[in-house]
Amino acid sequence: MKVTYTIAALAGSALAAPKAEKSPRAPAAACSSAVTLDASTNVWQNYKLHANPFYRDEVNKAVDAISDSSLKASAAKVADVGSFLWIDTIENIAKVQPAIDDTPCSDILGLVIYDLPGRDCAAKASNGELKYNELDKYKTQYIDPIVKLLQGAPNTAFALLIEPDSLPNLVTNADLQTCKDSASSYRDGVAYALKSLNLPNVVMYIDAGHGGWLGWDANLKPGAEELAKAYKAADSPKQVRGFSTNIAGWNAWDLSPGEFSTASDAKYNSCQNEKIYVQKFSAALKTAGMPNYAIVDTGRNAVTGLRAEWGDWCNVDGAGFGVRPTATTGEPQADAFVWGKPGGESDGTSDTGATRYDSFCGKDDAFKPSPEAGTWNQAYFEMLLKNASPAF
Ligand code: GLC
Repeated sequence: MKVTYTIAALAGSALAAPKAEKSPRAPAAACSSAVTLDASTNVWQNYKLHANPFYRDEVNKAVDAISDSSLKASAAKVADVGSFLWIDTIENIAKVQPAIDDTPCSDILGLVIYDLPGRDCAAKASNGELKYNELDKYKTQYIDPIVKLLQGAPNTAFALLIEPDSLPNLVTNADLQTCKDSASSYRDGVAYALKSLNLPNVVMYIDAGHGGWLGWDANLKPGAEELAKAYKAADSPKQVRGFSTNIAGWNAWDLSPGEFSTASDAKYNSCQNEKIYVQKFSAALKTAGMPNYAIVDTGRNAVTGLRAEWGDWCNVDGAGFGVRPTATTGEPQADAFVWGKPGGESDGTSDTGATRYDSFCGKDDAFKPSPEAGTWNQAYFEMLLKNASPAF
């Protein structure tokens, strides 16, 4: 699925293409008074997902590394796309303040809370820094300092995406020893995060995997109940708005028939595209007693038909950037399409000798070579760009 250009085409576009300019830093004029987000409404109608300075820098470096002037010009546009900033280690809490300082009043800063003890219990690529029994460290050295920073920025709006994959893993991978070990830390940790981060300038979404995960008929109810349990354990925080889906995922929004609808087990999953999943999971959440509006990651879902199996999650080869962040989804239960995963950052290493090597990153449909999770992969970024739909 790789796109190749002929020498002639390259030469032709080089002449005609506009000069690539680096995208300037957004002028940050923070709000002049305290921000209050009403989580009973869709805040994305009033705020734009901020193009945070870290992704902007990554993209600008990528632009420098491209020689084809036409590709360079389109790459530069990616720097202006809003995306979530992943706070994946205690050290990376340091990224929050510069991102706050960069956020104008028109924007909402998206942060991914992602450092649970025993993180990524059913895979290896994103195993975290905290051991499963380090819940106290998670609370005092990770969540508490983030709370302080957000309290210290009352004039900034925040959207928080809470712990991707964690509660879904407890629903479907509960038999794995690593997930058994992590279960109580996940449940208590997510509840603690929700309770502590329940600030007026914050709106929160708890991760619910995707349609090929909790969308199976047998998983919808237990999945919704698992999320609702964490929500209730946190005393039903006012600023929780609902759930997130397709984070770092590949599912198309409303493709019909769905991508895997001819698979032999398709009859056991009524959520054959992400839109149906949002509808069904939100209904299940309502029954379970939790707020039920969604944000959906469309960062890398432009191209379908690439995965051998629905569950393939690592650096899918041939992928393209999808729809840009917007509050226009056409689905009342879906607040917004967002870029959750910063496209260009790897999902996991393809180095079979690495400690965090996961066999999913070695599958035929995974892009190789790929660096460690979260690390920039220039070739993958360029592929996403060439395959983007809508195009840049
Ligand atoms: C993966 C990585 C994490 C990174 C995130 C976003 O989950 O484990 O370190 O921040 O992807 O790229």
